[in-house]
Amino acid sequence: MTDTVLSLRGVVKRFSGIYALRGVEFALRRGEIHALCGENGAGKSTLIKILSGVHPHGSFEGQYLLDGKEAAFASVRDSQARGIAVIYQELPLVEDMSVAANIFLGAEPQRRGPWPLSRLIDEPSIRRQARALLSRFGILLDPDRKVSSLGAGQKQLVEIARALRNRSRVLILDEPTAALTDRESEALLALLQELRREGQSILYISHRLDEVMSIADHITVLRDGQSVFSAPAQEVTQPLLVQKMVGRELGELFPPRTEPQPDRTPLLTVTGLSVAETRDGPCRLSDISLTVHEGEIVGIYGLLGAGRSELLLHLFGAWGVRQAGSVLRRGTAHAPKGPADSISAGVLMVSEDRRRFGLVMDESIRFNLTLSSLAALLTQGLISRRKEERTTHQMAERLRVKAASLEQPVRTLSGGNQQKVVLGKSLLCQPKVILLDEPTRGVDVGAKQEIYALLDELRREGLGVLMVSSDLPELLGMSDRVLVLSGGTIQASLAAEVATPEILLQAALADSARPATANRESR
Ligand SMILES: Nc1ncnc2c1ncn2[C@@H]1O[C@H](COP(=O)(O)OP(=O)(O)OP(=O)(O)O)[C@@H](O)[C@H]1O
Ligand SMILES: [Mg+2]
Repeated sequence: MTDTVLSLRGVVKRFSGIYALRGVEFALRRGEIHALCGENGAGKSTLIKILSGVHPHGSFEGQYLLDGKEAAFASVRDSQARGIAVIYQELPLVEDMSVAANIFLGAEPQRRGPWPLSRLIDEPSIRRQARALLSRFGILLDPDRKVSSLGAGQKQLVEIARALRNRSRVLILDEPTAALTDRESEALLALLQELRREGQSILYISHRLDEVMSIADHITVLRDGQSVFSAPAQEVTQPLLVQKMVGRELGELFPPRTEPQPDRTPLLTVTGLSVAETRDGPCRLSDISLTVHEGEIVGIYGLLGAGRSELLLHLFGAWGVRQAGSVLRRGTAHAPKGPADSISAGVLMVSEDRRRFGLVMDESIRFNLTLSSLAALLTQGLISRRKEERTTHQMAERLRVKAASLEQPVRTLSGGNQQKVVLGKSLLCQPKVILLDEPTRGVDVGAKQEIYALLDELRREGLGVLMVSSDLPELLGMSDRVLVLSGGTIQASLAAEVATPEILLQAALADSARPATANRESR
């Protein structure tokens, strides 16, 4: 009698010459939460795609056993039929349909219809069953709501409800909390613990190591496509975990703090700024004043829907109509009509939604890196291929982008490496001010350290940074000053030395009772 649900033995997976997995041993036991950790590109998502039949039997070497027998899945359908449910890094929900319809997608209960329709989808039954399912797991969601109106965290819950509807035995989650706020993450983790109590086996991938330490029963580490470590969670400490992931001692995550120069030039000065989404809409940002100086990182803290991304997008010329106030870029008016205007004024942005705004997925790393800085590569009106190659190589090296070559399509990069390309693209524009929205989402701990070091270096060279981050240690570790945004206004401005998580949260909640903020979960 074994309590192993599924296992991999000596699994090797290649993509036309690139090894994604090169010898993986893995076993998932009944009723455990098993965390899978590893750097960007280590092979975590690839491993999952084998478990779920996305990479079918025959497309990899080695053995995949389910209940002790060869799984031999030909497709995802096969794995679903055997009770394996996966929640992927990207959310594949139908935005235009309701929560209930999404939960029952492809498995709609049916009823007899009037002639000539012999079968109809049983809408009332879908709604009823969805409501029962959601309440059974304590998920607070209206089954009739359209998915497009939900925030990222709520969408995640819909996905989980869908997996639970299938009565899966194995639930696999690929970075489920990457797009969630702390509070949403906590709700999700509590739900997973509840499911474990009911005997569900869970495979959990996350770059948030504190999360891993708090809920995992067992931890396996992948490095360069190999399983290098696997142990019960109680035998693992966070430094040990990091060391196994990156293969070396990491040292301090954040660069040492330096005293700010006393008389620095203001690069971006915002005064009394109010912005509405449309010309006659209500203000979503009101009376915002802030200054970003040369060589300064200003962090923005706030809860989901506080207006953080909207503020950055507006300064970048990509969102909203200005109703009042002014923005000065080194003393001259900055009112970009679009991103192109902003870029030529030296104000760059790294969006939190890299798939929609950051990358051309089918194009190469080289193409994407130089997308915004082509002008700098011109020699007598033509793009200098040599210059392009040199600059992209340097940047890819600096950010440690893991790829076979710079001609590899961005689509085939791991999530974290895609994020590095987005960041590199903006840095190649030689920005004076950079607006960062969740810059290290999905980025592994080693690469984070390098990105922090790079930002610190650029700060010393005089770059001004305005950074939104839900990652509190990052916000506190990198910012010289932290602004707290709530309900579209700035509630507090704190020097980094005095900002603590408690003070920030308190300020962020100060205004959350106002009804205007409640329905503002724009992403
Ligand atoms: N379809 C593909 N074609 C070519 N290479 C691929 C493909 N899919 C994955 N790879 C490569 O396989 C390696 C492992 O990628 P994978 O997505 O499994 O990493 P990961 O551990 O999930 O990383 P992350 O933490 O960034 O999500 C990477 O080097 C990636 O570029
Ligand atoms: Mg991945």
